[in-house]
Amino acid sequence: MITALTADASAKIILFGEHAVVYGTPAIAAPVSSLRAAAQVQPEAPGTGLRIAVHDLAQLLPVDPGSSGQLDNALVVTARLVLAALDVPPPDATIHLRSQIPMASGLGSGAAVSTALARALSAYLGQPLELSALNAVIFEVEKLHHHTPSGIDNTVIVYEQPVYYVRSQPIEPIRIGAPLHILIGDTGTGALTKTAVDAVRALYNHDTAGVQTLFDSITTLVMRARSAIEEGDLTRIGRLMDENHAHLARLTVSSHTLDRLVEAARMAGAFGAKLSGGGRGGNMITLVDEFHRPKVEAALLAAGAARVLATTLHPTSSPFDSQPHI
Ligand code: MEV
Repeated sequence: MITALTADASAKIILFGEHAVVYGTPAIAAPVSSLRAAAQVQPEAPGTGLRIAVHDLAQLLPVDPGSSGQLDNALVVTARLVLAALDVPPPDATIHLRSQIPMASGLGSGAAVSTALARALSAYLGQPLELSALNAVIFEVEKLHHHTPSGIDNTVIVYEQPVYYVRSQPIEPIRIGAPLHILIGDTGTGALTKTAVDAVRALYNHDTAGVQTLFDSITTLVMRARSAIEEGDLTRIGRLMDENHAHLARLTVSSHTLDRLVEAARMAGAFGAKLSGGGRGGNMITLVDEFHRPKVEAALLAAGAARVLATTLHPTSSPFDSQPHI
């Protein structure tokens, strides 16, 4: 993953359990390895200092090691956290960032760009961060995007493994029993995770017992989904995706467009469909077989998807095939 001065990181999807995971329930997420953010470090003349060139936004950000925290750009904070973790001054260099991952779309663009940056910078400094230290850095950065991240986004992106995740507990890789062909349908509407997380918080504060009941049923659903994924039972996985989407709609994080795309996928023969990530825009996912895949893709586009991506999660033969080093 890391060559001399370049590094990258993948996008992610949440298969089950987003939002409730913030409150300590389990969730399942997987990397989208075909969709990536990349960082390249270019040495500069002495005295230049460290700069971050964000090519997709045409920004050049100086990294001032003296300035502190919360109000700063998340990428600058990422660089600063790496320098602090390694206890080194900023090098004279420019870090060039480019990403294929749409922003504010529920695919983990922020965490992926920060992960690529931290990997490239630490490698350039001759001390590549190992996975758990990298994960800790990116978790800190996630707190800038929204105040109460569960940690699932940084974890699945840093380890680039399908995971069964419970906040503050050791990461569990999940075994995939049969190929999961997934289409990712983009509503074309950006949505900040923070807005959706805040909306769920408001609902939780207003009706704690009601929302907790919903979280309890999401917990059961995610545990059943884990078994179904491990057994390769596509019909059951699809049904559970449908159920999870209904829970998320009750948490007020769906949207008319997400509902329309989810319904279009189901009508075209998908096993099931749901929004993925923060919701209120962004992306939905749907599980398909090879026969229905072109029909579902066409139905999503006809229903207004801005674009459709395909990804496949390949089977692993034992839970330990994909064991991350934690
Ligand atoms: C966003 O990808 C997932 C959420 O559950 C937020 C989080 O877990 O921090 C909505």
